[in-house]
Amino acid sequence: MENKLSVIGAGHVGASLAQYLAEDELGDVMLVDIVEGLAEGKALDLTEAAPIRGYNTTVRGSSNFATIEGSSVVAVTAGFARKPGMTREDLLNTNAKIIGDVTDNIMKYAPGAFIIIVSNPLDIMTCHAFKKSGLPKNQVFGQAGVLDSIRFRTFIALELGVSFADIQAMVLGGHGDTMVPLPRYTTVSGVGLEELLPKEKIDALVDRTRNGGGEIVKLLKTGSAYYAPAAATASMIKAVVKDEKKMLAASTYLEGEYGIRDLCIGVPVILGSGGLEQVVELTLKEDEIEMLQHSARTYREFLAIIGY
Ligand code: 2OP
Repeated sequence: MENKLSVIGAGHVGASLAQYLAEDELGDVMLVDIVEGLAEGKALDLTEAAPIRGYNTTVRGSSNFATIEGSSVVAVTAGFARKPGMTREDLLNTNAKIIGDVTDNIMKYAPGAFIIIVSNPLDIMTCHAFKKSGLPKNQVFGQAGVLDSIRFRTFIALELGVSFADIQAMVLGGHGDTMVPLPRYTTVSGVGLEELLPKEKIDALVDRTRNGGGEIVKLLKTGSAYYAPAAATASMIKAVVKDEKKMLAASTYLEGEYGIRDLCIGVPVILGSGGLEQVVELTLKEDEIEMLQHSARTYREFLAIIGY
């Protein structure tokens, strides 16, 4: 296939992502994990599913980073996931070390690739990879706004009893308690959400979205979500590979947009063959911009802990 898509980390998120990429035939998939045999085993298993699932994707696995050479996209899922009682930020120091090493390896073997960070704490790890790589901002960005938006869409569809596909939503801010779902920009087949639900119901859905990751952690007890995070990441990779010029929320390095600078946070962007091609600046209301800037302020403190 034309594209080589690498996934770093063969845990639940990485393996689910490799599966979706293989099923969608978006490119040859290279799954990498430092645990000997893990990526090879999962890649072989996925290959053996191909005859019945009907895809012709080459899926390979390795513990050797050199195998990512020639990748057009590298998605980074490596690192620890949170357990019940933990915030995403509790993973800061352990995952910063892992993402630092992974970034060095990407720069060594696939410096031309678009890098999509999926590891938590998402916005801080995205900023870490962006700064450590020295790459331009269109080339390094983070998944999370898509995940938070599809959770919001899911909860709205379940509440209204309508098709998931009918809901369009935008969730900005950091991937954590301070995220900023925007009901004002949320529609059901073009009809504003505020027409269809009372404020208390919308507030409850916003709240459930903010705690969407935690809700799954509480249920699973031993780890965090992976199907929806992987699906969100696959849709971002598709937008790049197919040059879809898709507008979605992603974590990106801001340089004054929304009055925020020198950190990564979720805002609307356009994704296409040039990677993160544009930051879209919405005219937010005062309370919305304050929520976004509040979210950014909390991340500034976490970035300082890892030396930025
Ligand atoms: C979540 O929100 C894993 O952060 C991810 O489920």
